[in-house]
Amino acid sequence: MGNNLGEEKKLAAEFAVDDLIKKGLIFSGMKIGLGTGSTAMPAVRRLAERIKDGTLSQIKAVATSFQTTIECEALGIPVFSMNSKEINGNLDLAIDGADEISPDKHLIKGGGAALLLEKIIAYNSKTFVIVADSSKAVDSLGIKFPLPMEIIPEARVSIIRRLEELGAKPVLREGVRKAGPVITDNGNLILDCLWQADKNGKTPFSPAEMEGRINGITGVVENGFFTCNIPIVYIAENQNKVQIR
Ligand code: 5RP
Repeated sequence: MGNNLGEEKKLAAEFAVDDLIKKGLIFSGMKIGLGTGSTAMPAVRRLAERIKDGTLSQIKAVATSFQTTIECEALGIPVFSMNSKEINGNLDLAIDGADEISPDKHLIKGGGAALLLEKIIAYNSKTFVIVADSSKAVDSLGIKFPLPMEIIPEARVSIIRRLEELGAKPVLREGVRKAGPVITDNGNLILDCLWQADKNGKTPFSPAEMEGRINGITGVVENGFFTCNIPIVYIAENQNKVQIR
């Protein structure tokens, strides 16, 4: 990651948290979902700062991954399960990063292999917010950044066959500093799926339709197309400016 992109991530994340507080969308006593990755982390840290300086209190957080849980624990942000009495299966707002953002604000997520909890949290939040650096805006999804999906290990080969029938090139994600594949926080595998662009350089299908279709393949737990809860997007234009979409 270039230094500039790192600064853009921090800028977008911190700007978003402060702006959402100003607009009353982040407020004391709320139930908030916290995302995973290098853009979500500065948002989590900003939230902790606003708790520490007394701007916010009684925040109830749900974390999308072990990464986020560990960060919340270190920062003293109370973390609950989605199923707890305090959260009761729904959230006021979720804030997270993205791998690709299309002009109609459909997303690809899952670069950090946390897409399952990220989607459970995003789709059960009244307001969904994305924070991103400028590299994440694309014209078409799934033809540059491969679509991640979480799968049951025993179904790997049958799923790959079905995805190839849908025109995809699936690749099993390999671990870093671990022999063999990435194992998700839920004990599953990740396939990364790339499609070839059509003759106009666009995605050769509707991501909204494909999101449901992929989940219909037996053994697929969830895929990284996020098209059902359209987010507010805070995207850095450069190191000094954030655009709200
Ligand atoms: C994790 C995700 C992340 O939000 C996505 O990969 C973006 O990551 P980063 O902010 O580090 O670029 O979906 O599963």
